[in-house]
Amino acid sequence: MAQDGQSQNIDALMAESRTYPPGPAFTEQANAKPGFYDQDHDEFWEREGRERLSWFTDFTKLKEWDRPYAKWYLGGKLNACYNCVDRHVENGLGDKVAYYWEGEPVDERLTITYADLQSRVIKAANGFKSLGIGKGTKVAVYMGMIPEAPVTLLALARLGAPFTFVFGGFSASALGSRMQEMECEYLITQDAANRRGKPGPLKPTADEAMDMAPTVKTCVTVKRTGPDVEMKEGRDHWWSDVVDGQDDDPKSCPCEPMDSEDLFFLMFSSGTTGRPKGILHTTAGYLAGVSTTHHYVFDIKPDTVYWCAADIGWITGHSYIVFGPLINGTTSVMYEGTPDFPDKARWWQIIERYKVNVLYTAPTTIRTHMKWGTEALQGHDLSSLKVLGSVGEPINPEAWIWYRDNVGGGKCPVVDTWWQTETGMIMVTPLPGVTTLKPGSATKPFVGVKAAVYDESGKEIAPGDGAGYMVVKEPWPAMFRGLLNDDQRFKDTYWSQFSDAYLAGDGARVDDDGDFWMMGRIDDVMNVSGHRLSTIEIESALVSHPDVAQAAVVSRSDDTTGQAIVAYVTLNDGAEGTSEKLTELREHVGKEIGPIAKPANVVFADSLPMTRSGKIMRRLLKDVAENRELGDTTTLADPSVVHEIKERAESGKEADKEG
Ligand code: WT7
Repeated sequence: MAQDGQSQNIDALMAESRTYPPGPAFTEQANAKPGFYDQDHDEFWEREGRERLSWFTDFTKLKEWDRPYAKWYLGGKLNACYNCVDRHVENGLGDKVAYYWEGEPVDERLTITYADLQSRVIKAANGFKSLGIGKGTKVAVYMGMIPEAPVTLLALARLGAPFTFVFGGFSASALGSRMQEMECEYLITQDAANRRGKPGPLKPTADEAMDMAPTVKTCVTVKRTGPDVEMKEGRDHWWSDVVDGQDDDPKSCPCEPMDSEDLFFLMFSSGTTGRPKGILHTTAGYLAGVSTTHHYVFDIKPDTVYWCAADIGWITGHSYIVFGPLINGTTSVMYEGTPDFPDKARWWQIIERYKVNVLYTAPTTIRTHMKWGTEALQGHDLSSLKVLGSVGEPINPEAWIWYRDNVGGGKCPVVDTWWQTETGMIMVTPLPGVTTLKPGSATKPFVGVKAAVYDESGKEIAPGDGAGYMVVKEPWPAMFRGLLNDDQRFKDTYWSQFSDAYLAGDGARVDDDGDFWMMGRIDDVMNVSGHRLSTIEIESALVSHPDVAQAAVVSRSDDTTGQAIVAYVTLNDGAEGTSEKLTELREHVGKEIGPIAKPANVVFADSLPMTRSGKIMRRLLKDVAENRELGDTTTLADPSVVHEIKERAESGKEADKEG
């Protein structure tokens, strides 16, 4: 706990004590066995780089570190598409399934083998080439979860064209500003995407975005749902016209040899200021990092059926739907739609149909399924599942246990994987055959990841001694190489707080066993009466109440206590947001964590403001709590939600003031 007795250290008040050691049968067959962590880090990454990837020219040096600039696998030449596709076909795996793809309409299914994928990719690459795309051409991609999405990324990788994939839920201005920032010359998109049975237009949004980004001169559009879209003469082309008639012979479009450190792609991510950060990833280190972690963390075998249920438009999709799994020659499931279409059993049908062995999803989705109840799971055979993964935010123990018990039948290890767009690959994670699991803990840094927790002064906090700043002390292969057009921001944001470590921006603590507990973003940390409290711990406590589905906690300024805690809560179907319930929840948090953590206000809501990627927008809830003008709501999935909450908060304010 706080060693200096001041409010500088976060008080990690809630202790979770359940543990789940790995089963001996699992360990017996696991890719990572006990002793895994004892390897020499550099030897490990050298070997993985050499054996997991195929090189046109072997690398001559493992890494170079001139803080904050890292280089990995220096001197090597390789191609991502060759590694993901061609070599598997050359090695006789052409008939192996790369993707089982399901459209949102229940009857639309495709089985895409590695040979099919190769044919599709080469045709697309030849088509793109015919329009002038080549090595170094910058391309934006704006698509939903259709087969052409991975095909496009692989085709661009084949040609050596750096890309930025902008999530299909983003607005025209978000797409436009990203394309402008990167100076993209091409855009690949689709007419519309299926979303809960309705087409969500993409091309019209792309048109608006292109008006903002005059560098984009050419646009290719996949016809998916078939509404009329405007096609601008000279600029716009249909995918079918460009791609379908092309040659699919590998010799017609060889894989461009790329330098290990050539720019691979950009992923934009929001930061504390309005301008998104263009996070740069290069080729070899990224590919080695994502494929290696994919293999060990999810215990991937040649016959594994793996489903990462994220969207390709996020880093999770890039690393763990496209590049990691394909490098490993894995069979993946890819699903176009939402989990509740046509009904809430869709996911469980998919798992049953393809006998999925690994499911990788986010806590927010797990809690949504929890809220819907277990009926939807009933009657579905989920016994194929072997490993369950979680990513995106801290997972509260309640959701972790629900996931393990109800989805995993109480037998599957749950791997809570901590990482970021910046890290490119999973950084802190259990290894399912090695790690004793603790619900809510991401447990141990992966091999070669020197993670630590620092106090304000940059001193490492010893295990069991309290919480502080999550940092990484040494470079890792898939780390970002900088921010587009903003080296100063790169240095200021990540490398200036501490002189010898990367600042991740998360709070964390390490327990007596050396296990990491992530406590959310540093800006989600509150200071109440001189105690720092993590929003996630209070949220966790709230969600552990049987009536609570989701909770988001923020602070507002308070004359007496400095900051006061405000909780926004959605209840499970059947429960009512009465004033008795409010008292009950406050008492519950008091009991779970301590009286200091009791929320001053509890606001009941029908839903919480979420970004389209499923993160709760605490910034907006904070605006409500502080009773100030709402900030930017454009990235919300449903902006009306926050206005409803604001109204409710205002009408309820008098009622719970005495709390
Ligand atoms: C932030 C990064 C990495 C892909 C998805 C998000 C939070 C992520 C965990 C986890 C606790 C987590 C952190 C991190 N986060 N995974 N397992 N436990 N927190 O990528 O949008 O770059 O967000 O997500 O706060 O900093 P991202």
